[in-house]
Amino acid sequence: MPDLFSPLALKDVTLRNRIAMSPMTMYQSVDGKLDDYHVMYLGARAAGGFGLVFAEQLAVTPDGRTGTTCGGIYDDDQLEGLRRVTGIVKRMGAVPAVQLGHTGRKGSRVRPWEGGTMLAPDEPGGWETRAPSPIPYGGKRNIVPRALTREEIKDLHRDYAAAAVRALDAGFEWLEIHFAHGYLGASFFSPLSNRRTDEYGGSLENRARFLLETLDAVRAVWPERLPLTMRLGSEDFHPDGVQFEDAVTTIGWMKEHGLDLADVSIGSNTDDMVDPPFNEPGFMVERAARVRSEVGIPVGASWNLGVPAVADAAIRDEQLDLVYLGRPALANPHWPVWAARELGREDPFGLVPEDWAWWLRNFRGDAASIGWPAPVPLG
Ligand SMILES: Cc1cc2nc3c(=O)[nH]c(=O)nc-3n(C[C@H](O)[C@H](O)[C@H](O)COP(=O)(O)O)c2cc1C
Repeated sequence: MPDLFSPLALKDVTLRNRIAMSPMTMYQSVDGKLDDYHVMYLGARAAGGFGLVFAEQLAVTPDGRTGTTCGGIYDDDQLEGLRRVTGIVKRMGAVPAVQLGHTGRKGSRVRPWEGGTMLAPDEPGGWETRAPSPIPYGGKRNIVPRALTREEIKDLHRDYAAAAVRALDAGFEWLEIHFAHGYLGASFFSPLSNRRTDEYGGSLENRARFLLETLDAVRAVWPERLPLTMRLGSEDFHPDGVQFEDAVTTIGWMKEHGLDLADVSIGSNTDDMVDPPFNEPGFMVERAARVRSEVGIPVGASWNLGVPAVADAAIRDEQLDLVYLGRPALANPHWPVWAARELGREDPFGLVPEDWAWWLRNFRGDAASIGWPAPVPLG
């Protein structure tokens, strides 16, 4: 029976454990480029023992960024920074992963800690956002997007494919397409944001079309030997939005189109969710487990899995194949080492580079004096 520290083999890639650093947008880029900042923080998580390390969502077009300081993969000038990231992640023993995305109607924004509001196209740093239908997200993101033409949809598929080619060139070995969190793919999937009357709107089959065509475009250029995965907005927590059954059906179709693993996440297509379970530990786990058993595909999930015993149980109980950690990875770059200690594994320092491990294993004295964080009380 696998546990959190069992290797995970998918296609020709083997992760050293089941712990992924979830993609996190850092708002630190200039012209969409990753630089020293990203080498530092992604390299630190790889050195801290994560098996899979995601760079932030990388936009496939300039207007696919959340704001002007977000990362992109739409220009060959962005390759150098990406190569530096994949280089350091591999050197530290992890597998570098890329998340391709487009923010759709949730783009053109200022940074979250500066208010997160949307900028109008005529404001500095703002642009006209594009979406399936001219419906704003709501709340402080209330600017109406422009509906994509069918021509533009085809162009976007070419943009995703070109981005996947760049990702391969940059050295990424695992590719996830972002169809969650209210961004473009999620907003095609949700009846709350997609009111199109052409073949991209209406029935579930039509609302899933943009996602499946994107997957096909990427699969055509991304090598079969490398994992192709996607993160789906599987539930909107709204009576008129995506219902979980829709996600199970759609992931079944995606499997037929060459998907290797489903990262099951939230829709986030409305400012008006009804009782979202955001404070519950591991609230996506049972949903992902349903996908795993009903579709028969490996699954991962994030959301409140930072307590080692909770993450380990999700793997041991065969609910998840891979645990994604967002905020816990920000809080503790050495989360895997700490979790190994908490779970009583032999040689937790085996996860850090050998030159550090030697010093830490041979330490004489009190464990607390080498800076172990205090254990987390369970329950
Ligand atoms: C600072 C920050 C940036 C994020 N950016 C992204 C992103 O680029 N792509 C994405 O799919 N999710 C993004 N997320 C969501 C996380 O990947 C993760 O799914 C979420 O935080 C729940 O996991 P957690 O409870 O372990 O934090 C972000 C989260 C945070 C905290």
